[in-house]
Amino acid sequence: MPENIKIKKAIIAVAGFGTRFLPATKAQPKEMLPIVDKPVVQFIVEEVVRSGIENIIFVTGRGKHAIENHFDYSIELENALKKSGKRHIYEEIKKISDMANFVYTRQKEARGNGDALLVASHMVAGEPCAVLFGDDLVDSKKPVIKQLMDVYQKYGASVVALEKVSKKDVHKYGIVKAKKIGGRLYKIEGIVEKPEIGRAPSNLAVVGKYIITPDVFEILEKLKKMPSKWGGKELGITDALRELLKTRPIYGLEFEGTRYDCGSKIGFLKAIVDHALKHSEVKDEFKNYLKNKKI
Ligand code: G1P
Repeated sequence: MPENIKIKKAIIAVAGFGTRFLPATKAQPKEMLPIVDKPVVQFIVEEVVRSGIENIIFVTGRGKHAIENHFDYSIELENALKKSGKRHIYEEIKKISDMANFVYTRQKEARGNGDALLVASHMVAGEPCAVLFGDDLVDSKKPVIKQLMDVYQKYGASVVALEKVSKKDVHKYGIVKAKKIGGRLYKIEGIVEKPEIGRAPSNLAVVGKYIITPDVFEILEKLKKMPSKWGGKELGITDALRELLKTRPIYGLEFEGTRYDCGSKIGFLKAIVDHALKHSEVKDEFKNYLKNKKI
């Protein structure tokens, strides 16, 4: 039976260390690295809010306070901006904290993204929800989470965001075996986490955006209690989705938009260049700079 319950909450997992960006991430969360002048995590939150979701649960870890501060009021700064007549920036800064209802919970140990979801499970109690990992930024007219929500509304089942990646990159992602059932829509038949090229069932990769039904949490709970399956290692969302497939359908949507993997240096750089080329304050000068640059 399709559930078709309205999606009201999103879990954003931001507990990862960001080792690929050391030393920049030694004392600040990787999610706070800016794309020109806006931290990556704000883009992710805006995607959720534009999708019509108002309740955001961050799964954080030690050293992630800057994220909480970013979405809180900053009274001294706001007062100073008001006093100095910088009304426009004041409004923009204030808006960040008023965008959504934020709650924070901490994953005490790095035990995988499935474990991170379990840390937040009591806050979604029995509801389907959106899940986003902090690295995948997508520039699109319709937010990717909204694109996935539309599929969920139709089928009442879990949905993953898909993108075709080059073969050399399949080892970085969850890769699906899937059957195309419409334009960009797939029915998932299998899923493997980070396979070697030879073992990948396709080049359709799961990017870090999902709608999950409540049974995913039940499965994660069970998997966690089965040390033989993942003992000492990490509990992944992919493990739970593979288990879910045994009893319920999962859909995949090749989303519309341009994705930047901001967890990698090259993806991050591409995001900065593309955003700078659209940024009202710097685009003209930056365009000129690039044009005149000898490479
Ligand atoms: C996670 C998922 C993986 C997915 C990826 C997308 O991996 O486990 O299936 O393809 O996010 O970003 P992670 O990058 O957290 O290792």
